[in-house]
Amino acid sequence: MKQRSLRDLTVSEIGLGCMPMSWAYAVADVDPEEVAATLRRAVELGVTLLDTADVYGPFTNEMLIREYVVDAGLRDQVTIATKGGLVPIDATNYGRNGRPDDIRAACDASLERLGVDMIDLYQLHRIDPDVPVEETWGAMADLVATGKVSYLGLSEASVEEILVADSIHPVTSVQSELSLWTDENVVNGVLNLCEERGIGFLAYCPLGRGYLTGTVTADVIGEGDFRSANPRFTAEALTANESIVAGIRAVASRHGATAAQVALAWVLEQGAHVVPIPGTKRRRWLEDNVAAADIVLTTADLADLAALPRSGAPRY
Ligand SMILES: NC(=O)c1ccc[n+]([C@@H]2O[C@H](COP(=O)([O-])OP(=O)(O)OC[C@H]3O[C@@H](n4cnc5c(N)ncnc54)[C@H](OP(=O)(O)O)[C@@H]3O)[C@@H](O)[C@H]2O)c1
Repeated sequence: MKQRSLRDLTVSEIGLGCMPMSWAYAVADVDPEEVAATLRRAVELGVTLLDTADVYGPFTNEMLIREYVVDAGLRDQVTIATKGGLVPIDATNYGRNGRPDDIRAACDASLERLGVDMIDLYQLHRIDPDVPVEETWGAMADLVATGKVSYLGLSEASVEEILVADSIHPVTSVQSELSLWTDENVVNGVLNLCEERGIGFLAYCPLGRGYLTGTVTADVIGEGDFRSANPRFTAEALTANESIVAGIRAVASRHGATAAQVALAWVLEQGAHVVPIPGTKRRRWLEDNVAAADIVLTTADLADLAALPRSGAPRY
C-alpha cells in the first residue's frame, strides 16, 4: 500500500479505525475471532496505522490491540495511535479532562493496556475548555521527552488551538471528521492549515459512521448503538440524506466499485496529507476499504460528488 506523511511519521494511506471492534456500532455483532482476523488481515494488506482510544469500550479497545497485535508479535509492523483526554461520566456521556497530571496518568494507563513501552502517536481526544491548551500540550510534550510517546496529535481542534500547540511542540496529526457529508474542516480552515504545515489530517468517520456505504437503514441501528441517539440517524435524516448515497452509488457504478470505496477515494483526494481511518470489525469491509486506494476518480466524478448535498443534520 502507498504511504502518506504525517509530518515525520509515515503511515499507510488508509488506516484502520478500531473503535467498532468493541464500541459504538452494533456491539452485539462483535465476534472476537473475526476482530483478531481483521487485525491480522490489516497487517497482511499493509495497513500500518491502527487508531484506538482509552475511552473506546470504555477501556477495552486498547486491550484488543494488545491481545491481537502486540502479543501476536505484530507490534513492529504497525503504528499505534491512541488517545487520552476524554473520561466516561456514565454509559453515554463523556467529559473532557486535559489536566496535566491526569493526562500523564491516562498515558501510563494506555501504555499498560496496550502492553507497549512507547505509544507511536498519542492524541488529545478533545481540548478541555477549563485547561489552557498550552498546559495540556506541554504535559504531552513531556511524555515525548521522557520516551513514553513518539509523536503527538490533536483531535477536533480549531485553527487557533493547532497554532498554539504547534508553537510548543510539533503537531504530527489532527484527527477530525471528513467525509462526503461533512465538510466542516474544509470550511473552518483546519484542512488547509494542516496542508500548509505538513501536519497529517486523520479523517475520522470517512464512511459517515457507515451511512455513506448505503448499508445502514433504521432497522440495523439497535438500542445502545451510538447512532440511535445521533441526529444524522433519525428516521427523517436517514431519508433526507438518501440522495447523497444515490449520488455516491452512481459514481461507484462507473468504476465497478462499492459506495464505500468511492467515499474513501474522495477523502484520499482531499490532499496528500489526508489519511482516512475507516472503522470496521470485519475482514469483508476491511478488504473493501483497502481496495479503495486503487480507484482513480475522474474530474467528472469529482464534480458530481462535489454537487451532492451535505448532511443537513449536525454531527452530534
Ligand atoms: N477523534 C474522534 O473524536 C473520533 C470520533 C469517531 C471516530 N473516530 C475514529 O475514526 C474511526 C472511523 O470512524 P467510525 O468507525 O466512527 O466511522 P466510519 O469509518 O465512517 O464507519 C464505520 C462503520 O461503517 C461500517 N463499514 C466499514 N466499512 C464498510 C464497508 N466497506 N461497507 C459497509 N460498511 C462498512 C462499519 O461496520 P462494522 O462495524 O460492521 O464493521 C462501521 O459500522 C473510528 O473507528 C475511530 O478510530 C475518532
